[in-house]
Amino acid sequence: MDSVESAGGQLGAVLSAPRDGAAALGPGGPWLATSQAQARQVLTDPATFDFPGNVNRTGDLSGSRGETRSGHTVFDPVPPDQVARGVAVFDAEWAAALREHARSARDEPYDAMSLLRRPVARSTTAAVLPALDDARRDMVADHVLAWIDALGPVIAAHRRPRRWSRVRRAEHDTRVALEGVLDDALACLPGEDRTSQQVATMLAAGIQVPIAAGSFLLAWLAQHPAPATDPLHVVWETLRLTPPTWLTARVTTKPVELGGASIPAGRVVFVSPLLLGRLAELVPGAPDTLADFDPERWEDGTRRPGAWLPFGAGPHACPGRSLGLAVLVRLASWGADHEMTLSEDVRIDQSRGIYPVPCRFTATARSETSP
Ligand code: HEM
Repeated sequence: MDSVESAGGQLGAVLSAPRDGAAALGPGGPWLATSQAQARQVLTDPATFDFPGNVNRTGDLSGSRGETRSGHTVFDPVPPDQVARGVAVFDAEWAAALREHARSARDEPYDAMSLLRRPVARSTTAAVLPALDDARRDMVADHVLAWIDALGPVIAAHRRPRRWSRVRRAEHDTRVALEGVLDDALACLPGEDRTSQQVATMLAAGIQVPIAAGSFLLAWLAQHPAPATDPLHVVWETLRLTPPTWLTARVTTKPVELGGASIPAGRVVFVSPLLLGRLAELVPGAPDTLADFDPERWEDGTRRPGAWLPFGAGPHACPGRSLGLAVLVRLASWGADHEMTLSEDVRIDQSRGIYPVPCRFTATARSETSP
């Protein structure tokens, strides 16, 4: 896989920013939090650092002014019984996806991003809407995937696509179709008080990101087999080196001091779990090994995994943290039981969070290869 350290684009700009205070990435901003304390200040004080009204979807770090969108929904964490349901569905659907591959494409390598789509989509949908029957769950999951696919080109576009452009129409049509299916589904669920827009947002966030995280995990394991390592350590190490939500933005509502910098109102401030995950004070191991994939570093117990905030913090922290972690642990356990080989070099795409592409690999069960 590409070294994240050598990646150009916005990733390179963030990793090479000076770290002696909040860093201005251009004249007059945007700013970047470069310590955990700064990141916490930004993420836990929504009255000063509000959600952006128009998230910077262009990959362009030059914009320093932003609008806020106070009143953004706060999502409740997915409760433990619903997490358990999501994990059970993931297990069943992952096994089904592997069987289907064996049936229809046995001689082809697996493609991680494709292979994970249905298992993750159905698992997250089952956890977020546990009362749905399987047929409706699968229909909702397919509609979320269609919306995510249509959103991709809108987010990745360098210039905001015009309202009636083909990509905006496709995004609009798939979103309306999803909300229609959700309206019908929610109407059958007694006591349900979430709107179809809220549920659609939850599902999209809870499907797109774990697919990318799971693909990174498989790519790392293919390059650095860790059959005897605690799968949870493999998960944390993946989320440390390649957190899919590697950059998140807020907009200042008033003038504020952050890490020695005076930031005016209405300016964009970034928090990067990917940058924080490379700070020696947050990660065990020698400073010159921080860019290496080494899940066993978490065995020494001297640092708390997750201190680099791969699930965010504060009122907008990830409500699907437990589900995301649990599904990735299942995947890491599968990875530990298989010998995987990448079929070609993997690049890190930065157009929409980060994800590995192409991420194709072959896998053989270790029990088949052991004497
Ligand atoms: C490995 C898996 C996951 C990772 C790494 C992850 C990461 C994140 C991060 C960093 C944020 C905060 C973004 C910010 O502060 O701007 C976030 C927010 C969010 N996540 Fe996750 N997430 C994962 C899985 C999930 C799952 C499974 C769900 C749903 C079941 C979910 C639903 C959401 C939602 C709805 C938000 C927005 C919260 C808000 O704006 O208040 N995520 N996630």
